[in-house]
Amino acid sequence: MALLIKTDIDRGTAWAEALATAYPELDVHTWPYKGDPADIEYALVWQPPEGELKRYPKLKAIFSIGAGIDHLASDPDLPEGVPVVRMVEPGLTAGMSEYVTYAVLGHHRFMLDYARQRAGKLWQEIPQIAAGARQVGMLGLGVLGRDALEKLMPFGFRLAGWSRTPKSITGISCYHGEEGLREFLAETDILVCLLPLTPETEGILCRETFDQLPEGAAVISVGRGGHLVEDDLLAALDSGRLSGATLDVFRKEPLPKKHPFWTHPKIFITPHIASMTIPESACQAVVANIHRLEAGEPLRHVVDMERGY
Ligand code: NAP
Ligand code: GLV
Repeated sequence: MALLIKTDIDRGTAWAEALATAYPELDVHTWPYKGDPADIEYALVWQPPEGELKRYPKLKAIFSIGAGIDHLASDPDLPEGVPVVRMVEPGLTAGMSEYVTYAVLGHHRFMLDYARQRAGKLWQEIPQIAAGARQVGMLGLGVLGRDALEKLMPFGFRLAGWSRTPKSITGISCYHGEEGLREFLAETDILVCLLPLTPETEGILCRETFDQLPEGAAVISVGRGGHLVEDDLLAALDSGRLSGATLDVFRKEPLPKKHPFWTHPKIFITPHIASMTIPESACQAVVANIHRLEAGEPLRHVVDMERGY
């Protein structure tokens, strides 16, 4: 049984080693594969070239190395009828919760303001606000959004989340649908986006959304760059409608050198590293799913390609 790995950063070797330990009988190849395409039954991929996956006629499943599968959904030649599995693994979840916690606390404790003050050698205290006086609102209550909110619980923030379908989670005020979004935004001081990128969520971080947040709210964008309407963010920051933004994902990556986000004093930027799949823990999820499929059992975390996540 053969599996082909295509990664973007050089983690092919780490994956191959982790899979060899977890499933020694699996014949693991790193992309590009020079043998007969009909050998390949499983693909484990991040951003494969368009049409690439159609070359393998015996493919049984496509595993996304990321939680997001927009890099696959955008391929017009994605092979039909082959299940696409999104990445759900403890390393990726833990990393995202670390990043979101850091970013939420950074906005809560005015760290962007202090960075500006430091640049001007200005010693000036900003009055502290109690965590309980702020609401952290999460767009997306999936694997990542929910874990991040649960990790924030001990700090005492009011926590809220918004999803497509109704939810009930202890300690989190849950909203759903268009009507729920208005109510959710009206109370949210620190807005985090952990939605998948779909036609419904594209551009959700826009002026209309920002205008519904309390004056001076902050935005943390960690889902996908396509969620953010960039000019609307700049306008909202420049007018003072928003106090700051932490951005990890962008419409164009790498972010072009001349992009105004780089130098904006109210924006903190990271290069799409909020979280990364860790081969050593993720290979367990992939291997367990291969065993399931080979045993005739249903795969876990299969994407509904119609829905887009
Ligand atoms: P997930 O488990 O599939 O959860 C998605 C959540 O979004 C669900 O709660 C879903 O609602 C909600 N949702 C989807 N469409 C919606 C809509 N139209 N309206 C309202 N809610 C909607 O996904 P995940 O594993 O948490 O990952 C989320 C995203 O994070 C990924 O797709 C990826 O883009 C991003 N990500 C980024 C990084 C990074 O390093 N920056 C790393 C990993 C992942 P229901 O619960 O009702 O279905
Ligand atoms: C990273 O962006 C992912 O989707 O896991």
